Amino acid sequence: MTNQAIIRVQRFNPDVDEKPYWQNFTVAVTDETTLLNALQEVKTTQDGSLTFRKSCRHAICGSCAMNVNGRNLLVCNTPLRKMLDSRGVVEIRPLPYLPIIKDLVVDRTAFWEQYLAVKPWLIPPEMEAEKEYRMSQEEVDALHEAETCIMCGACYSACPVIATNKRYLGPHALQKAFQRVMDPRDGGLAERLDMLEQDHYGIYNCHTITECITACPKGLNPARAISMLRYLAMRREQFEAERVERQKGLVG
Ligand code: F3S
Ligand code: FES
Repeated sequence: MTNQAIIRVQRFNPDVDEKPYWQNFTVAVTDETTLLNALQEVKTTQDGSLTFRKSCRHAICGSCAMNVNGRNLLVCNTPLRKMLDSRGVVEIRPLPYLPIIKDLVVDRTAFWEQYLAVKPWLIPPEMEAEKEYRMSQEEVDALHEAETCIMCGACYSACPVIATNKRYLGPHALQKAFQRVMDPRDGGLAERLDMLEQDHYGIYNCHTITECITACPKGLNPARAISMLRYLAMRREQFEAERVERQKGLVG
């Protein structure tokens, strides 16, 4: 088993480079070495100008998502050895479809704008509870998956619709919208569904390509959340009436 690996990194500094290019670095590899360890090793001992984002190192903050051998993933929880080909080489590029700031760092402005567009916060219902809102276990469970999202951008940058339609909200924002739509404590249901049904923008722009599922490092399923939103939009009148009744029970 090889004790050395070649990290092939896409480099690009828009201030000096006309276009991206590849650069190889050789690093030591053990069973414990992650891709992030390898990048950090290169930065510390070989080329301090290599630029990438990271923070928590435990798959929590979402800042280290990159494209490795053509697949979006978190480099902090991916073993280097697992990603090496038969020559002992791994290729690391920035997340696709996003403007490159430098090397492996991309500009996530559109990503966050789309996230904010769905009003990811809870809008209080008209009837405020004196003490607390009592949700059922099933209601809590329905929110669990969307709550697990760490906003790393892996799904967003894997979605081919995002590549061609920058107005599309994207799987990350729609998954968050799903969480708020499903939350019986939320008072913004009608406003949310109006927004999600807009042309060129919302739930009908997903073509069920499902790359978002493959890319998610947390095993989430944004495509299913988008399908559910479509279903709820279809039976909107009934869903809104049910929500009004449910909210009476929440504070009663
Ligand atoms: Fe894109 Fe996922 Fe829909 S990849 S097209 S958001 S199923
Ligand atoms: Fe935080 Fe990888 S460094 S998710």
